[in-house]
Amino acid sequence: MSQTNHQPIRVLFVCLGNICRSPLAEGVFRKLVDEAGLTAHFEIDSAGTGPWHVGEPADRRMQRTARRHGVDLSGHVARQLGREDLARYDHIYVMDRENLEDVLRLDRDGRFRHKVELFRTFDPEPGDGEVPDPYYGGERGFEEVYQIVERTARRLLEHLVSLYKLKETADLSR
Ligand code: 4NP
Repeated sequence: MSQTNHQPIRVLFVCLGNICRSPLAEGVFRKLVDEAGLTAHFEIDSAGTGPWHVGEPADRRMQRTARRHGVDLSGHVARQLGREDLARYDHIYVMDRENLEDVLRLDRDGRFRHKVELFRTFDPEPGDGEVPDPYYGGERGFEEVYQIVERTARRLLEHLVSLYKLKETADLSR
């Protein structure tokens, strides 16, 4: 499954509002991909299952936490997941089981079920398998989400590098 000179691997991160968890996962994953010299191999985006925050930037608290770790979310504009995303993306990583249900509801005949996974499947310390929603919590919740997302995104990239037999130009194991 080498992707050299082929279509990019299309990766989509999904949460409820597309202002906290999935924009962070997108930003962290993109940074890891860039650092690994694999930018040309990937198309990376995020979306929310709900419509409430469409057009808004990432939550200020999430942006602040990300910036402290060298991840810039300032260009993010929230958007809602659509049925066309299920066809377009190769891998859809959802933050919790409610997201999973909502995504699968869009996939009426189950054609794309194989593309959709809980993001924390790749977490070496997966807990209950969900990235907690930090929206109604305090600042500490955002840092916790960052730590979960960072270590999970690192393992996810290792998984995809292996799955697609991508050559790395940088070391992922820092
Ligand atoms: P996210 O967080 O799904 O990680 O973007 C949330 C953002 C907004 C709301 C809930 C969760 N909300 O209820 O508006």
